[in-house]
Amino acid sequence: MGLFSKDIQNLNDLFVHQLQDIFYAEKEIVKNLPMMIEKASSPELKQGLSSHLRETEAQVERLKQVFEMNEIKAKAIDCPAIDGILGEAKDVVSEAGGDEIRDAAMTAAAQAVEHYEIARYGALVAWAQMLGRDDCAALLQETLEEEKAADKKLTQLAADQINLRAA
Ligand SMILES: [Fe+2]
Ligand SMILES: [Fe+2]
Repeated sequence: MGLFSKDIQNLNDLFVHQLQDIFYAEKEIVKNLPMMIEKASSPELKQGLSSHLRETEAQVERLKQVFEMNEIKAKAIDCPAIDGILGEAKDVVSEAGGDEIRDAAMTAAAQAVEHYEIARYGALVAWAQMLGRDDCAALLQETLEEEKAADKKLTQLAADQINLRAA
């Protein structure tokens, strides 16, 4: 996408653009989650992140399916937003001076990732529906539900355990 070219002319272009953006984001999340799992101290946090890593790997495959259904090549384009969120997560993990505080920081960072994904998938589902692609919308909705569930689990874990230990 050139800075001065207008590659996004209609809703379908926008849909494809954001599909490529979230494809990049999901692949980066797959690359970065192992570091977070390794650094997590709470067994529940470790386990929650591990199961979401497996879910995320399946989400990458699901996106490939959506590309295929639209007869376009699965392509990732840089997503500065997820780079920023993951970069910040790495910083806070390395700067945290103790297991409990690192877990609290990491849980919040993981939630920032989920919130980004929820925003993106929410728009993608709506656009797929507008474009008359209920088949694509249904697949993307599956991922959206997984992201929401992951966020909810993290909220619960933070309230029940992580934040109490960090306080
Ligand atoms: Fe995801
Ligand atoms: Fe996620």
